[in-house]
Amino acid sequence: MTVILETPRLILRRQRLSDLDDLWALYCDPEIVKYIPDAPRSREEAQEELEWHMHGHPKHPELGLWATIHKETGKFVGRCGLLPWELDGQNEVEVAYTLARAYQGLGLGSEAALAILNYGFETLKLPRLICLIDPQNIPSQRVAQKLGMRFEKEMQDEYGKFWIYAINKEAVTG
Ligand SMILES: CC(C)(COP(=O)(O)OP(=O)(O)OC[C@H]1O[C@@H](n2cnc3c(N)ncnc32)[C@H](O)[C@@H]1OP(=O)(O)O)[C@@H](O)C(=O)NCCC(=O)NCCS
Repeated sequence: MTVILETPRLILRRQRLSDLDDLWALYCDPEIVKYIPDAPRSREEAQEELEWHMHGHPKHPELGLWATIHKETGKFVGRCGLLPWELDGQNEVEVAYTLARAYQGLGLGSEAALAILNYGFETLKLPRLICLIDPQNIPSQRVAQKLGMRFEKEMQDEYGKFWIYAINKEAVTG
């Protein structure tokens, strides 16, 4: 088991093929995918995504979406991690988080996101981290704010408008 990082209540590890049922169940929940327009639409697409992230992101193996395991129950409760983007010609890394509905509202999203932010800044030495968030996704905006991120700008892609929240490493480490 390749553990990427650990928090008081969660383990984030590389995904494996046996996670597929849990991952697909997550994407089958309309409340979960409401604000993830590019989420897999079929089990096959979910498997493709999973295989894409099994060894880290193919082009940036230090990044990726990691299986998020609830220590107390041993259950796969989400997929969280770091994703590379090119926005307006600039390379960016997104803190990404998604938790199964049964595990929301317990502070686990913030706990995972904060650990990922620290991992990105301290271990990977990334200069800046962002979140890409649907303007209507209040819980996700709250998580970004709790990371110390600030709203930066609105952008648009083929799925519609989205907001960029961002934080620079200096803001955390001084
Ligand atoms: C975003 C997400 C990971 C947050 O996870 P979570 O574990 O529920 O978050 P937390 O319990 O840490 O709560 C974070 C903040 O959001 C607030 N919040 C949670 N659900 C809320 C809701 N339905 N409405 C308003 N605020 C909400 C919490 O009150 C908390 O803020 P506070 O500490 O100031 O009270 C989770 O909602 C999720 O997986 N959503 C579906 C997928 C998704 O949208 N991912 C993000 C794509 S950008």
